[in-house]
Amino acid sequence: MRSLTRLLILSNVLLALAKPHILFVLVDDLGWANVGFNLEEANPEVVTPNLDSLVASGIHLKRHYVHKACTPSRTSVQSGRLPVHVNSVVWDVCNDNTGIPYNMTGLAEKMKQGGYKTHFAGKWDAGMATPAHTPHGRGYDTSLNFFGHKNDFYSQSNIQTCCEEDQSIIDFWRTDRGASDANSTDYSEFLYQKELVGIVERHDPAVPLFLFYAPHVAHEPLQVPRAYYDKFNFMTDDESTCSRQTVKELHPIDPAHPNLEYKCRQQYAAMIMIMDEVVGNITGALKSKNMWENTLMILSSDNGGPVHLPENAASNWPLRGGKYGFFEGGIRVPAFVAGGYVPSQLRGTSNSGMIHIADWYATLSKMAQVDPTDFRAANAGLPKIDSLDVWPFLVGEVPESPRDVLPLGPTSLLWGQWKLLDGLQYPSFWQGPKYPNSSSVEPRIGACQDGCLFDVVSDPTEQRNQFHARPDLVAKLRSRLQAEKAHFFNNSDSFPRSCPSTEEHCACWAARQRYGNFLGPFAMLEAQELPAEQTWLRSK
Ligand SMILES: *[C@@H]1O[C@H](CO)[C@@H](O)[C@H](O)[C@H]1NC(C)=O
Ligand SMILES: *[C@@H]1O[C@H](CO)[C@@H](O)[C@H](O)[C@H]1NC(C)=O
Ligand SMILES: *[C@@H]1O[C@H](CO)[C@@H](O)[C@H](O)[C@H]1NC(C)=O
Ligand SMILES: *[C@@H]1O[C@H](CO)[C@@H](O)[C@H](O)[C@H]1NC(C)=O
Ligand SMILES: *[C@@H]1O[C@H](CO)[C@@H](O)[C@H](O)[C@H]1NC(C)=O
Repeated sequence: MRSLTRLLILSNVLLALAKPHILFVLVDDLGWANVGFNLEEANPEVVTPNLDSLVASGIHLKRHYVHKACTPSRTSVQSGRLPVHVNSVVWDVCNDNTGIPYNMTGLAEKMKQGGYKTHFAGKWDAGMATPAHTPHGRGYDTSLNFFGHKNDFYSQSNIQTCCEEDQSIIDFWRTDRGASDANSTDYSEFLYQKELVGIVERHDPAVPLFLFYAPHVAHEPLQVPRAYYDKFNFMTDDESTCSRQTVKELHPIDPAHPNLEYKCRQQYAAMIMIMDEVVGNITGALKSKNMWENTLMILSSDNGGPVHLPENAASNWPLRGGKYGFFEGGIRVPAFVAGGYVPSQLRGTSNSGMIHIADWYATLSKMAQVDPTDFRAANAGLPKIDSLDVWPFLVGEVPESPRDVLPLGPTSLLWGQWKLLDGLQYPSFWQGPKYPNSSSVEPRIGACQDGCLFDVVSDPTEQRNQFHARPDLVAKLRSRLQAEKAHFFNNSDSFPRSCPSTEEHCACWAARQRYGNFLGPFAMLEAQELPAEQTWLRSK
């Protein structure tokens, strides 16, 4: 009997060991040309030595797709659905139906089922209506996160939410309560670094670890510590200041230097450098713990770089367009996998197969030896997962990516090498490799009003519109898109109000009344109201 128990324990340990540690880095608003590994020649404005060396030891993913904006990509990776089947709009976190529908099962829940310890740090932006919507509700053992699209990098005050006019409300959360230990203590990215490095240092390497790091960098507001900004003082050619981000009374750029006029591109470059350092320090911690050899790291941006100067200053050169549009510059993003789990013969290679960020849900579930099927969603009549396991393709066991078709939106579809843009898209311009031809103050230069068709494999920069030359293909893609549209989905969750009817916004009420001025869940606040499957929430 005892030896049988020993055998069982031993086989569990071996199984657990076979599961790699996972580090997922989902960078915010990172442009194609804002990382060294996508450039043809060095650019002193782009300082990403850590990312570049990770790519050199991993697989550079050259056709890794996301949505054109943040919330849809974030709900997609955490739910395993394409954005059109989970959430394709960017709404205020104060709404009931913002983010992932209540009854979908999160990626971290799957990893947890597979025996992983699961931790989240950074930007969530995938809903917060009920405790089941938070990172913890979606399966992360712990989180240090903000819920909205952005917050202040120094005070963590809420921005772009229903409570914005009250800057004493803080958008910063630790697992199941306001992050009152951390708010206003440091620049956000350093707080995430401290959190993640600490988790690695305390972790038992025998247990598989799932770390999700979602930097706030380099989303606006463009804010950065002076020491990093000053490293880019040679960027003297740019007169544009980030006027829209420097509402000083609301969002101080650097509390120590409140009156400085910051330059957008310089801010952006400095923020990318910080992100690169933080990633280097987290991977460094995994190496120090001898966990790196059994780690799979995945890095991707959440959308293409935002290219309009008063707000942001990314570059997607040589790709066309940027954030908010379905040109490649908006949806084909810097991405790679790295870590000791990457087979040695593949290190330093690149892969041009089509992969969508939703595909990591099934891929990682398989690694965790868990069935990726979402039974709870099925019971609730919600869309099933779209995610496809891409690992056999990445390691060369099968010749083609399982991902072949990607409905992007009501008028846009990617199918193999062909992309149909059957309606106005913006931004639509190309940037150049060097400033001043690198960002624009005019984002609304549109194209494709009369239809575009591109072969994004032979023409990745989308120069040759074949819409009129290939009516056969246009008809084929249109009819496929028509069929896909029948299954498009909007989250229509709504919950009984938990706040008095006199309150306009339950979220601001809950922040004040329940969490000491921290933004957090505002509906279904009692444990017995939560899904039976989420035992870790109910046991509180
Ligand atoms: C990363 O670690 C290095 C070495 O410990 C340190 O000098 C650096 O400040 C850290 N980076 C950040 C962004 O904290
Ligand atoms: C979740 O699904 C259950 C049935 O599986 C259903 O009773 C409940 O109303 C659903 N909740 C929401 C918010 O859709
Ligand atoms: C910027 O560079 C791109 C690519 O090199 C080029 O197509 C475009 O015409 C240039 N735009 C301007 C305004 O010079
Ligand atoms: C989803 O909502 C958007 C915006 O309100 C609307 O335009 C679209 O038709 C809706 N789609 C579906 C499938 O309901
Ligand atoms: C956040 O931190 C600051 C500084 O410690 C403090 O004054 C403020 O009250 C805190 N906000 C909340 C909501 O705790």
